Amino acid sequence: MNYPFPVPDPIPLPAPVWLFKILNVVTLGLHFVALEILIGGLLIVAILNYFGTKSGASLEVNRAASLMARRLPIVMTYVINLGVPPLLFTQVLYGQALYTSSVLIGLWWISVIAILMLAYWLLYKIAERTEENRSAWHLTIGTWLLIGLIARIYATNFTLMLRPEDWQSLYENSALGTMLPMNDPTTTPRWVTMLTGGFAVAGVWMIWLSTTSRASETVGAYLSKLGGKIAAVFFLLQLGAAYWVFLAQPDIVKEQLTSQSLYLITGYGWIVLTVALIALSAVAIVRKPSLFLSWSGASVVLLSMLTMVLYRDGIRDITLLVKGFDVWDRNIVTNWSVVAIFLVLFVVGLGVIGWLLSVVMRSKEEGEIKLNPSFATESTKEITK
Ligand code: HEM
Repeated sequence: MNYPFPVPDPIPLPAPVWLFKILNVVTLGLHFVALEILIGGLLIVAILNYFGTKSGASLEVNRAASLMARRLPIVMTYVINLGVPPLLFTQVLYGQALYTSSVLIGLWWISVIAILMLAYWLLYKIAERTEENRSAWHLTIGTWLLIGLIARIYATNFTLMLRPEDWQSLYENSALGTMLPMNDPTTTPRWVTMLTGGFAVAGVWMIWLSTTSRASETVGAYLSKLGGKIAAVFFLLQLGAAYWVFLAQPDIVKEQLTSQSLYLITGYGWIVLTVALIALSAVAIVRKPSLFLSWSGASVVLLSMLTMVLYRDGIRDITLLVKGFDVWDRNIVTNWSVVAIFLVLFVVGLGVIGWLLSVVMRSKEEGEIKLNPSFATESTKEITK
């Protein structure tokens, strides 16, 4: 069936569709890794801070909370900066659908900026309070709710763009874009998959931090074991949530997903990588932290995210194609010199991100060794030795 998608921009695309797709998948995969660390990391910090600030709590609980909380503003920087490139690529490829859905939920969509700024500011407050061993769990839960709301708005927009059949009635009901539609059976499963994935990836992040953050041996061991437990449980739950996403798709989309080899490979690939992550997390629970475990966890997370993004891309392309929108059917006039300059700058940009990460890891953070005098006990000295 054909739906009235707006006509594409008359200016041709300056590069092939496959190139935009590759760039979109890579940058969105990175955006998702940072995003999942933020979503899961926040709630884990809230729980650790709640127990860590109770009287008689063991010191590593609080230290772990503070160590994670102080990194969350940096993680947010990556969430935002790695969100911008896929937004540009997605708009180039799917602008006719995405612009329409963004306008239809305009008030919510634009409010993301304000919510994001508030959440960002709160992250600094949380870092400050956990550093001083003060209670921050209520602030952290509040921030998690804000981030969860942004995630809901994104899940709504990226599913509404696939439903041109609903656009007219939505506009008639709310021309100001004040409604956030709840009637799509695929939105909630997608949102839940991101939220459960958040805990899972944040668990792997804890395993990674156990050896790369200059945490003391005791705090490192605590992070790695707890991270392993959280990751193992939530990767299992995420497998269930992802299956729910699949089940919620219309029959024709399910049929195509299970018959096209790209989606069979990426779908099963994602499952295999998730099972590998569960196994790695189990090893982290029983073994001492090691660089091997930290880096293999991080690499497998990145790979699994790329397969997930490719599969998600398939859901979008198939759904839109069924409704008469073929993303590959575009007028293209490639400007190779501009493409070459762009690619060089893109690779340099990725290199700079890697370099920034390595600087953060190598820096001897004052906070990690500075102690609040109020809990400078014998055991503290032991931990920070
Ligand atoms: C804390 C802030 C953010 C949260 C919680 C968040 C959450 C999400 C979620 C849940 C999705 C997947 C939605 C789905 O498909 O169901 C998503 C996708 C996406 N996000 Fe973010 N996001 C955040 C910040 C940003 C920012 C600042 C940008 C860009 C300026 C951005 C750009 C994107 C893009 C472009 C996609 C999808 C691209 C595609 O489908 O090709 N995000 N985000």
